[in-house]
Amino acid sequence: MELNKAIQSRTSVRKFNSKKPDWRHIIECIDSARYAPIAGGISSLKFILVDNSEAIKKISEAAQQDFVSQAQYIVVVCSNPLRTINSYGKQGEIYLRQQAGAAIQNFLLKITESGLSTCWVGHFAESQIKRILKIPKEIHVEAILPIGFEYQKKRTRKSKIDLDNILYFNEYGEKKMKPLKKLNV
Ligand SMILES: Cc1cc2nc3c(=O)[nH]c(=O)nc-3n(C[C@H](O)[C@H](O)[C@H](O)COP(=O)(O)O)c2cc1C
Repeated sequence: MELNKAIQSRTSVRKFNSKKPDWRHIIECIDSARYAPIAGGISSLKFILVDNSEAIKKISEAAQQDFVSQAQYIVVVCSNPLRTINSYGKQGEIYLRQQAGAAIQNFLLKITESGLSTCWVGHFAESQIKRILKIPKEIHVEAILPIGFEYQKKRTRKSKIDLDNILYFNEYGEKKMKPLKKLNV
């Protein structure tokens, strides 16, 4: 799939049909996350592929979002903060969140390209997720990604924020690209 098509057709899906995805396709999507930028090249991310239906039900409860339980697979994204924090201190906390986001976006685009669907779930009780998946206490749970095939492919996608609303030129709040001033030489 062309990159622009994957970017524009990616959407959060919260209703899945009962067809089970091929887990090898999900592994390929996780593989794409390795290519995301990472502060200092210090690897922090871990991905847990969950297919145990009991665990999926419990994860759905920990997120208090019923649609999560319909997924055939869930990918749980974790960060091990140790080496990034050792290198960058407090700023490392920001880097950990940013690099998780970059990796997750690669994953989401690959999921879209594979014809699969997901929704980035960031609302969950972290302590419960850790208990269910035996995640050590020092590890952060960054996101939960329930995966399946969309129940009914939507024909129309909702419109996005206009480019005009997010773009400034040269300084914050400047909406116009001013012509270059001539240099007095
Ligand atoms: C950090 C983050 C956390 C999110 N958490 C949730 C969540 O807990 N539950 C949910 O249904 N969607 C969640 N979303 C998905 C957003 O609601 C969704 O991306 C947004 O409505 C835009 O829709 P789109 O993804 O279809 O473009 C989250 C997205 C992000 C980036």
